[in-house]
Amino acid sequence: MTSAATSDPGVPPIASQKIAAAAQAIDPYNVSGGTDEHGNAVAIDYDRLVQEFGTQLLTPEHLARFEKVTGKPAHRLMRRGVFFSHRDFDKILDAYERDGTFMLYTGRGPSSGSMHLGHTVPFLFTKELQELFDVPLVIMMTDDEKYLHTRNKNEGRQKPGNTVEDFIAFAHENIKDIIALGFDPKKTFIYTDYEYLGGHFYRNVSEFESMVTLSQSFGAMGFKMEYNIGLPAYGAKQCVAAFPSSYPELFGLPDSRYPTWDPAAKMRHKSLSKIMTLIPCAIDQEPYFRILRDRCERMTDPHPKTALILSKFLTALQGAGGKMSASDANSAIFMSDTPNQIKKKINSHAFSGGRETAEEQRELGGNPDVDVAFTYLSYFLESDGELETLATRYRSGDLLTGEMKAKCIAELQSFVADFQKRRESVTDEVMRSFMQPRKLEFKGNPNPTKPAAPAVKEEGAANGEAKEGGKDGRGTKGERKAAKLAEKKAEKEAEKLASRQKAEA
Ligand code: TYM
Repeated sequence: MTSAATSDPGVPPIASQKIAAAAQAIDPYNVSGGTDEHGNAVAIDYDRLVQEFGTQLLTPEHLARFEKVTGKPAHRLMRRGVFFSHRDFDKILDAYERDGTFMLYTGRGPSSGSMHLGHTVPFLFTKELQELFDVPLVIMMTDDEKYLHTRNKNEGRQKPGNTVEDFIAFAHENIKDIIALGFDPKKTFIYTDYEYLGGHFYRNVSEFESMVTLSQSFGAMGFKMEYNIGLPAYGAKQCVAAFPSSYPELFGLPDSRYPTWDPAAKMRHKSLSKIMTLIPCAIDQEPYFRILRDRCERMTDPHPKTALILSKFLTALQGAGGKMSASDANSAIFMSDTPNQIKKKINSHAFSGGRETAEEQRELGGNPDVDVAFTYLSYFLESDGELETLATRYRSGDLLTGEMKAKCIAELQSFVADFQKRRESVTDEVMRSFMQPRKLEFKGNPNPTKPAAPAVKEEGAANGEAKEGGKDGRGTKGERKAAKLAEKKAEKEAEKLASRQKAEA
């Protein structure tokens, strides 16, 4: 039997040897620029992605305004267009100027015990934002998401090393990695879903789940009918994690959780829903937040639409077309790699934009735009001038591939070694201090134009609502009285339980 292609006189025989080109696919579970008809990886087309997702490009005007508001030069990742797209970034700057504060939210899916270089990108940038704006930050570790996703990948089977407990352990290791990047313990709360979800957070989850249909979730995430039911449900958790009202304790207000059932937290703290949130992340996470933004204003306590600042992907060692990924060890440099591993990986796997031979390179020059060693330098080398010189010398043939790689190796070895040194001092105790729900300490903008608006300053007083937290954030008189009563009741219950246990023993 002949194929349709070869039997068709209008189609040359070579066509039957071609492979069908695969389209670009970017979502939280897939990152690929696609392939051409010969099966070669194609670089991610970010302009097309921005059009498909309907996000906005960050412009020089945004950078200028950012620098004016913060009084500092924009971070190198912003200057160099790594953070390149956004939703409502202008509104975050407005909120900071007007109200004095906003909340930062980002996260990590702990798929293994060590993070790679690509994962540090949103965290390094977030740390800089926290320092510049002096605002609270929440970091969500989605141990539940990674458990569900891994089990799904393994066709429903639970393989050794992939139990719920393994993912909690990965989360703890990753939390230590994140802390070692230098976050301020006074204004940073880090949690894992398995260990924290409950209280007001979980109320928001249920409400949000009720607003997303299965077909909306499948459409945005590319889920299939044979997937487990956990994955589509998980999305609501990643979404409501953006609401300050999911974390009353971080703003000095009580939460309602077993076994204290604080009566002052019976009702929601409306004022928290006034605070804006900004999420820094790579653009793969955007589909979640598209679903989120469409529903923020439909919550019982409407929240302003969450703002996003989105980055490109630190490419795989093999070059543009895919992201550095923990599931492919040869594509990634891990934060636990030794100096020698880094050297070996760059020398043997990093895609080169240079020529076949040194002579050719000297004569014709290389292409830094596709050179992985140069790309990595553009993420991690601080000096714009030095970076520019490297690019110019590479283009002119003055700098050879081996020299570019050597520069990259030295830079990454130093970055990873500094990190590993700080990581050694992150003990379990330090980790626990970041994971303790507590009132965060932050000052925000020292000169806001309308300082009384958000909850963190004056608990709803400025917008005519009943005061919830009191000026000092300890709650109103009524709330404090109710809290005291609840505390006494809980103490009595505990005493009763203890004497019952004693009698039974
Ligand atoms: P995860 O663990 O896949 O990725 C963590 C963060 O790193 C970004 N990222 C990258 N950035 C640059 N280059 C790369 N090669 C690269 N690979 C990953 C991701 O965009 C992300 O910002 N579901 C999430 C966890 C999560 C989250 C969030 C992330 C929960 N809430 C809020 C961002 C914001 C996840 O599995 O991320």
